[in-house]
Amino acid sequence: MKFVTCSGGRNKDIAALFRDTFTDSEGAEEGHVIHDLACALLETTPPDDLRVYLAEEEGAPCGCAIFTRLRFAGDPRSAFILSPMAVATAHQRKGVGQNLLIHALEDLRNEGVSVAVTYGDPNYYRRVGFRPVTIETVPAPLPLSMPEGWIAQSLTEDPLTPLNGPSVCAPALTRPDVW
Ligand SMILES: CC(C)(COP(=O)(O)OP(=O)(O)OC[C@H]1O[C@@H](n2cnc3c(N)ncnc32)[C@H](O)[C@@H]1OP(=O)(O)O)[C@@H](O)C(=O)NCCC(=O)NCCS
Repeated sequence: MKFVTCSGGRNKDIAALFRDTFTDSEGAEEGHVIHDLACALLETTPPDDLRVYLAEEEGAPCGCAIFTRLRFAGDPRSAFILSPMAVATAHQRKGVGQNLLIHALEDLRNEGVSVAVTYGDPNYYRRVGFRPVTIETVPAPLPLSMPEGWIAQSLTEDPLTPLNGPSVCAPALTRPDVW
């Protein structure tokens, strides 16, 4: 298994990975929603605001984590949000997701990104350093339907102090149904 930073040209394979994985875990409707979300993020996000990390086996993607920039109007710190993420069903529970995130967070840290945020199951993402935060500490770009899933971490040596919002996410994530 190789963990790589993707520089483009793989959108179709990546979207199919999201569709198939979420169809297996959540059903066909969710598979379509996440497929379309991944396509929109990959196709419409300016390169400077997009980071795509892949787990590959024999050249085929079997895991993917998409990060897009989260801007805070009153704060100079650089932040990215992880959404969505998937590991192909046949490769789950072998540490692929965890190792992919370790690779991704290290890459973002080396680039000088200060904060990583995601919106998901805290019990899973705590394994790689994410902790629950309030919207007072990390203002959310849209109303959260599951505030307990709002989680973040500092990628610097400094603790995560409140970020001054409001925050703005990538246009493709600016849709209330995924929040
Ligand atoms: C969630 C997902 C990315 C995890 O990837 P993975 O490669 O299977 O995860 P890892 O092997 O690194 O970690 C597996 C461990 O996490 C646990 N885990 C997996 N999903 C979990 C969750 N939602 N909550 C808590 N624990 C979870 C497993 O029980 C396992 O624990 P164990 O090692 O003690 O048995 C993958 O299962 C997946 O793609 N699921 C479907 C799509 C999805 O839910 N994506 C995330 C939301 S965007």
